Amino acid sequence: MNMYFEDNQVDALQKRFGILGRSEGVQSMLATIEQVAPTDISVLISGDSGSGKELVAAALHKHSRRSHKPFVIVNCGAIPAGIIESELFGHKKGAFTGAQSDRKGYFQSADGGTIFLDEIGETPLETQVKLLRVLEQGSFLPVGSSTPLKVDVRIVAASNRNLEREVDTGAFRKDLFYRLKAITINVPSLSERKEDIPILANKFAHDCAIRNQIIFKGFSDGAFQVMSQHRWPGNIRELKNFIESLVILEKGGVIKTDVVYRYLNAEASPTELNPLLPVKLDRSVDQAERELILQQLFMLRREIAEMKELMGQAVQQRPLGDARTDEYHPAMEVLPDENGRDIIDEDITAILNPQLLGNLTAAQVEKELILRSLQRFKFNKRKTAQALKMAERTLYRKIKEYGISKEH
Ligand SMILES: Nc1ncnc2c1ncn2[C@@H]1O[C@H](COP(=O)(O)OP(=O)(O)OP(=O)(O)O)[C@@H](O)[C@H]1O
Ligand SMILES: [Mg+2]
Repeated sequence: MNMYFEDNQVDALQKRFGILGRSEGVQSMLATIEQVAPTDISVLISGDSGSGKELVAAALHKHSRRSHKPFVIVNCGAIPAGIIESELFGHKKGAFTGAQSDRKGYFQSADGGTIFLDEIGETPLETQVKLLRVLEQGSFLPVGSSTPLKVDVRIVAASNRNLEREVDTGAFRKDLFYRLKAITINVPSLSERKEDIPILANKFAHDCAIRNQIIFKGFSDGAFQVMSQHRWPGNIRELKNFIESLVILEKGGVIKTDVVYRYLNAEASPTELNPLLPVKLDRSVDQAERELILQQLFMLRREIAEMKELMGQAVQQRPLGDARTDEYHPAMEVLPDENGRDIIDEDITAILNPQLLGNLTAAQVEKELILRSLQRFKFNKRKTAQALKMAERTLYRKIKEYGISKEH
């Protein structure tokens, strides 16, 4: 039952905002976006990780009078506390050791447009005071300056923490919370809107098939049923990654119940394939394991692609003259530095080469990836572990286990 709109209105809104779904939660979200997007009012978006908060923020910007101005995304959780103020508000030359010239902050870069403060719950209390000031007066002091700067920026903030609880524990300022929460958009988690799975899955599968030029013939009804029994702790991001792996690995046919069941259960217990599964495995354990690793490689690749996109978005908003090579960017924390940025991606692609892959066991695929990454990073284990999103300790163990050495 549609509480908010007629069916055709839902279709139109989904298209306009790029936010798919017909569930009540999504409709209520679309209704709020439609109401508040054209205004300058600040908005707080709350929702679990991977539920679509950034998509909502982007829709608010795109459908505002600011759409032709910058949309600057700041992941507050990824910026070390010591430099967050200079990142957000800029600094004057000489404000601190290493501040060799004046530098613009994200707020100035976003002038005229929208700033998206992702993970706002992670900002230190001192910085929260400054944010409140920007919200109330539209002005701030760059670090080391005594002249306030005025900007015309709309603030959209997001958090996957319960900010109310953070206020109770004293980790988040009450005044800032009340100022922000006037308009709150709650993004429902996927487990609360399982009826949206078919729409989302079909869209992700079609897009993936077109992008990779592979054939996709659809899902069986049973396949959707199995998907709706899954918990999806990683929400829509998890669904999207999952569908893309399926479409790529199972290319050609209709995706049926047993396949979905097998992959979902394999994901749930990655180390051992559950012998109690009611579905008969028609592949050898080795083959199944290889698929699993492949699946993980695909996910890693996607995540890297998403990070790159994110970096691109934030960096593009800066005037070219301001781009210094030593410039810190929050996303760099999670990316390998130096020239390693695209590298893991390339390595994965090389290993995914079917000819090579056909001859490798699961362990060999992993060993190959670790070896290539180590070589890329000149055997710097910290960087390699970071790039592979693996705990450094795990990397050491695997190096030993696979007998990898510099002589390889
Ligand atoms: N309703 C939706 N329709 C289509 N795609 C969606 C929808 N919601 C989310 N997505 C897609 O799912 C992925 C995750 O969404 P997004 O990055 O916005 O989540 P998030 O809530 O910001 O996650 P995090 O808390 O981890 O930052 C993105 O690729 C996004 O495009
Ligand atoms: Mg996000």
